[in-house]
Amino acid sequence: MSPRYPLPAARHPIADRFLADGQAIREAIERFGCPLHLVFPQVMAENTAALAAVLQRHGVPYDIFYAHKVNASAALLDQACGAGLGVDVTSAAELDRALAAGFGPDRIEATGPKSPAFIERIAALGVTANADDLWELDRLAAAAPTGTRVPVLLRLSGFASPAVPPSRFGIDLADADAALETVRRAPGLDLRGVAFHLDTADPAARVDALTESMAVVAAAHRKGLRPSVVDIGGGFRQRFVEDPEPFQRYARALAAADPGELAWPGHELGLRHSGAAAHKYANHRPATEVLERFLTAEIERRPVAEVLRECMLTLWIEPGKALVDHAGLTLAEVLYRKRAAGRELVVLDLSRNQITPADQEVLLDPVLVDGRGDPPDEGVFLAGRLCLESDLVSRRKVFLDAEPASGDVLAFANTAAYQMDLSASSAGGHPPPPKVAAVLNGDRFTFSADVPDDHQGS
Ligand SMILES: Cc1ncc(COP(=O)(O)O)c(C=O)c1O
Repeated sequence: MSPRYPLPAARHPIADRFLADGQAIREAIERFGCPLHLVFPQVMAENTAALAAVLQRHGVPYDIFYAHKVNASAALLDQACGAGLGVDVTSAAELDRALAAGFGPDRIEATGPKSPAFIERIAALGVTANADDLWELDRLAAAAPTGTRVPVLLRLSGFASPAVPPSRFGIDLADADAALETVRRAPGLDLRGVAFHLDTADPAARVDALTESMAVVAAAHRKGLRPSVVDIGGGFRQRFVEDPEPFQRYARALAAADPGELAWPGHELGLRHSGAAAHKYANHRPATEVLERFLTAEIERRPVAEVLRECMLTLWIEPGKALVDHAGLTLAEVLYRKRAAGRELVVLDLSRNQITPADQEVLLDPVLVDGRGDPPDEGVFLAGRLCLESDLVSRRKVFLDAEPASGDVLAFANTAAYQMDLSASSAGGHPPPPKVAAVLNGDRFTFSADVPDDHQGS
């Protein structure tokens, strides 16, 4: 028997309730099919309240914009709207969905690179534009209807701090003065504030980016502009595991052993050399802690929260994954088991692109629904249904709690953030799994089909 390296996924009590409720699982699959993505709006409500509580405790004027790109779900968008959040949209389609969900234009912010047609819509509606480039500012200025002013944030990048990862987005700090001049001269633009979004959860990086952004706020004031917002974007982490130790142990074994034993040949899962310490799936700390550490970090010996209050700046955050952390899971059926390439395989009725973004991995063990008996000694690789060697749902050898057989269902926990939609395609004629919103009422789950409006009828 070779050593087992299980990586159990943390699960929310609502997901646990669902997975323990055979009748609810059968009902969901019978009505909507399998594979199936489930979303849990109630979990999103909890995540929202937790982040808001941190901001309120620190007395910072704030606004939360749900980064809709994280999941196309209409139910989660409705949940965000009902909770009074704003929304961050990245395309005309997302803008339409946000308006349909009931967000007013003053509750909508547009981020990311924008097409001329999207810019026209933003300007016509008076949605806040988080400008990615000077080109966008010029376009927005030209598109502003006469007598109106489009609210803009300057998305900044090119920070001097080595803690801040380089980014392809935003206006380089070297061009910040030119951007401020453009806004100052354009009658159709209103500088609402400055923004950044970092591809790291490191609070020190965010504090450095804030410090450098505050210099742009000061420069804006010197030009007679009156910015009132600092938007620090998203990037608050998800809590994938209860305990980081199994992940560390796995990464150590991967580094020491022939990775072919623990990972599919030719794949090292990005862990063999880098280790697991900072890996997203190794994280057991909640997003609230990232926010808390940011607000209590010091700029010139004063906590960030105090600095923001004194400068009369409103803090905007744009969380995506932190709001939908644990607010979804994915079910897939086992087609059959086989041995290939000297390894044990479980072939699933699911394609890799429908459960993970292309540049990432499914690393944690799924749960075998209704699994019984002792955990099998051996791990297995999970194969997808496409005629591609690369269509492995898991390139990591996963360790299940029971022996899977044909017709069994595997549940992948915590898939609502980017995993359901970001890379999903209909390759091979397999449409992306349907999505369903599951709500726990008393001790019963109720289900409703959850499709974005622009997918209806397609
Ligand atoms: C500008 C911007 N804001 C917010 C987000 C949401 O990030 P996260 O899901 O890490 O919170 C993203 C993600 O790509 C982004 O690009």
